[in-house]
Amino acid sequence: MNASIRAVARTALYHDLEVVGIRRGYEGLLEGDFVPLTRSSVGGIILHGGTILRTARCEAFMRPGGINAAVSKLKENDIDALVVIGGDGSFRGAKELADRGVKVVGIPGTIDNDMAGTDCTIGFDTACNTALECISKLRDTASSHDRMFIVEVMGRHAGFLALETGVACGAEFILVPELPVDLKAISDKIHYAKQRGKTHSLIVLSEGVMHAAELAEKLKGRCDYDPRIVVLGHLQRGGAPSCFDTVLASRLGSAAIDALIGGRSGVMVGRVKGEVVESPIEIAWTDKRTLDPDMLRLVDMLSI
Ligand code: F6P
Repeated sequence: MNASIRAVARTALYHDLEVVGIRRGYEGLLEGDFVPLTRSSVGGIILHGGTILRTARCEAFMRPGGINAAVSKLKENDIDALVVIGGDGSFRGAKELADRGVKVVGIPGTIDNDMAGTDCTIGFDTACNTALECISKLRDTASSHDRMFIVEVMGRHAGFLALETGVACGAEFILVPELPVDLKAISDKIHYAKQRGKTHSLIVLSEGVMHAAELAEKLKGRCDYDPRIVVLGHLQRGGAPSCFDTVLASRLGSAAIDALIGGRSGVMVGRVKGEVVESPIEIAWTDKRTLDPDMLRLVDMLSI
């Protein structure tokens, strides 16, 4: 988030535009919680996790009254255009503003990676790397103590994080909200792996499927281990961004200003096959990103 705030601010300032940051998202917009952004005020943040502007979920913005109030607030403060960084909820708000004549561009930022219009959302790569680092430590315990671990990662509605980290850490099984749970398939696979001499096991579970404790309970007695659970939770949303995310955020932040200068509004910027592209903002929820079947096959083929 910080790398994209910096890129938005610095690109706009480069083009002699005035920039203000809105603290706490739409909540701060309604309250007029603005802060001028200068070249130096966004200095030193590129590698910091979180967001200097902070963030909030805003109930009022879900109602037409709240959106109309936001339009007035922007007018009162002579704000000509808005860059919205966030997931599909933030983009839905942005679309409402665009429909009321506000110039707005969206930058996709969520660890869930569940938005169309981009191959990767900002934060996804960092979250995967964080999960992987934790799982790599768990692996040491799993292999030394002959244990089975169930690692619960974030993803209430989407399994991209579980799939990516599952492939990267060589999990025996991944469970994602998009697919049904087959307890027999899990216990069979773990059982046969054990018969072939494997002494530990790893399951990566999306939080949207069920809690790790529930899965452990269901698997107890069905497989040859007494499962241990680890819930990574919000750990995955913090920490310094990866190189990939920092570059992605810088490119998309800058592209958002290019779009506004070019007179385009109601669009999102994304990175598709290495290129920065613009798409109608609503693509983020009208087109559904689906899990790559090749990646799913990899989990099956590569773990023993
Ligand atoms: O940003 C999306 C997400 O990280 C989901 O993966 C997760 O379920 C949710 O946010 C957690 O939200 P909150 O911090 O409000 O509990």
